[in-house]
Amino acid sequence: MLIKKSPEVPYSEITKKTDYLSRRSFLTAAGIAGAGLAASKVLPEMLSPELAFASTKLNFKKSDLSTHGEDITPEKDTTTYNNFYEFGTDKDDPSKNAGKFRTSPWSVSIEGLCDKPQKLDVDSVVKLSSNGLEERVYRMRCVEGWSMIIPWIGIPLSAVIKAAQPKPKAKYVAFETIWDPKQMPGQQRQVLDWPYVEGLRMDEAMNQLTILAVGMYGESLPNQDGAPIRLVVPWKYGFKGIKSIVKIKFVEKEPPTTWNRMAPEEYGFYSNVNPNVDHPRWSQATERRIGEFRRRKTLMFNGYADFVASMYNGMDLKKYY
Ligand code: MTE
Repeated sequence: MLIKKSPEVPYSEITKKTDYLSRRSFLTAAGIAGAGLAASKVLPEMLSPELAFASTKLNFKKSDLSTHGEDITPEKDTTTYNNFYEFGTDKDDPSKNAGKFRTSPWSVSIEGLCDKPQKLDVDSVVKLSSNGLEERVYRMRCVEGWSMIIPWIGIPLSAVIKAAQPKPKAKYVAFETIWDPKQMPGQQRQVLDWPYVEGLRMDEAMNQLTILAVGMYGESLPNQDGAPIRLVVPWKYGFKGIKSIVKIKFVEKEPPTTWNRMAPEEYGFYSNVNPNVDHPRWSQATERRIGEFRRRKTLMFNGYADFVASMYNGMDLKKYY
């Protein structure tokens, strides 16, 4: 983002990751795959800590809100081509460095201007949704100019908000990533203003497309993708999708966001995908779908205008970028 000068993603960067050992190929190599045992029962005893990212199968329903007719991005790309600066600034740093990150026990504090503040483990957060886990296949667009199609598994953020009963004064929701420099080497350096923070306006947070994801590709999230729980907002640039969340806070005023603090002219609070508003250093009119060579036209609100455009009626989206 700030550090890489070119927004272009050299395709070679994705394909040259020979050091990557996929979770599935590890399981196969270890003779675990196909053993018919629940991964959650097998893995803690059998795997060394650095392989703790080997994941648990999740039960979920498929959601009607999934995008249809687009090829899902291969899992090996989604799990090795990451932005997670707590584990390094190169795209393959998170998959290399996040393996030992402890994601259990974990607690999320839901606090601020609400009648029912609560501190919950991840399972209890998931239980706040009466529908259980849903798979949402979403189109994702990074501000750097690349996109992916990812089958997330999660719950609507609205379920969490309703359970907390925000007060009328609560106009925004602020999110915070864990602060743990011992486990997150990137936090030992002042690359960003730690901890990573993000925010949404209350109507954006309540929108049916906004989810808290705990999994992808049928399994719990790999650490490099934001385990154990992260935000997914498909009509906004990827950096709004804050990872490894420990705090959700209801606030009255627009909360600070990490990338806006770092470079306010480049990254606004809203960060809606918008082909008509260029990043100061590059155009946002087109994008490269990971796995393709030809560039595609970027769609307004990343193709989700029917669901979200009305929230921005009357707003100058060049000013509120
Ligand atoms: N969350 C935290 N805590 N730290 C980060 O560096 N990077 C953001 C976002 N969430 C980031 C983060 C950026 S810039 C992007 S594009 C997405 O995560 C990338 O998500 P992915 O690696 O799962 O594709």
